[in-house]
Amino acid sequence: MIRVAAVGDVHVGLDSAGRLRPGLAGLADRADLLLLAGDLTHRGRPEEAAVLAGELDGVGVPVVAVFGNHDYHTDQQAAVTEVLERAGIRVLEGDGLVVEVGGGRVGVAGSKGFGGGFAGACASDFGEPEMRTFVQTTKRLAAGLERALDGLAADRRIALLHYSPVAETLAGEPPEIFAFLGSYLLAEAVDRAGADLVLHGHAHRGSRAGATPGGIPVRNVAAPVIGAAYELFCFDADG
Ligand SMILES: [Fe+2]
Ligand SMILES: [Fe+2]
Repeated sequence: MIRVAAVGDVHVGLDSAGRLRPGLAGLADRADLLLLAGDLTHRGRPEEAAVLAGELDGVGVPVVAVFGNHDYHTDQQAAVTEVLERAGIRVLEGDGLVVEVGGGRVGVAGSKGFGGGFAGACASDFGEPEMRTFVQTTKRLAAGLERALDGLAADRRIALLHYSPVAETLAGEPPEIFAFLGSYLLAEAVDRAGADLVLHGHAHRGSRAGATPGGIPVRNVAAPVIGAAYELFCFDADG
């Protein structure tokens, strides 16, 4: 059995010490791996990442993360990555890793993802350079996710995102902002590469469950949505 714990949007700030740690107590008895679906910090400051690293110190399982939009706010992604990776927390963007757990190999491919919207209400790669850059950014990140999924040699493959690949798990958010919460391009990438599960955050008022057009389960694990320290997903290694 492969057991994966996941949570997004922990939004750790300088005053967050002691907030996550109690909920993570005993996690290593229940899960083999912890995934963090972005918005790790409040404003993307290395000092906040150090607080997060402190909260996760001794959690007892490998921790794999992607960034969210909040983690980009002060343009210090490299420094934040350094703080987290020094603490053993792996940060993915267009790459992946395979972890041997519970008698199987679980592969995680990660990207922050980006917005653009969904069928019938999406931005297009046309017009002003700013709009083209917006959509091209999502295309680039989706392509990175697809390559990373393709490259995973694992029994189970998980796509870890911050932005949503589907509108379904955004239900509860104002429809006017769906285009800023995710993109169908991410779902297309996942469906082409294949995966067993897609996890995302970002939509604090969204819904828990959806699926890509290809039928791959999608779960919004934003902390306010799951209402718990983490959600647990269990897989048989062999089907
Ligand atoms: Fe968030
Ligand atoms: Fe976010």
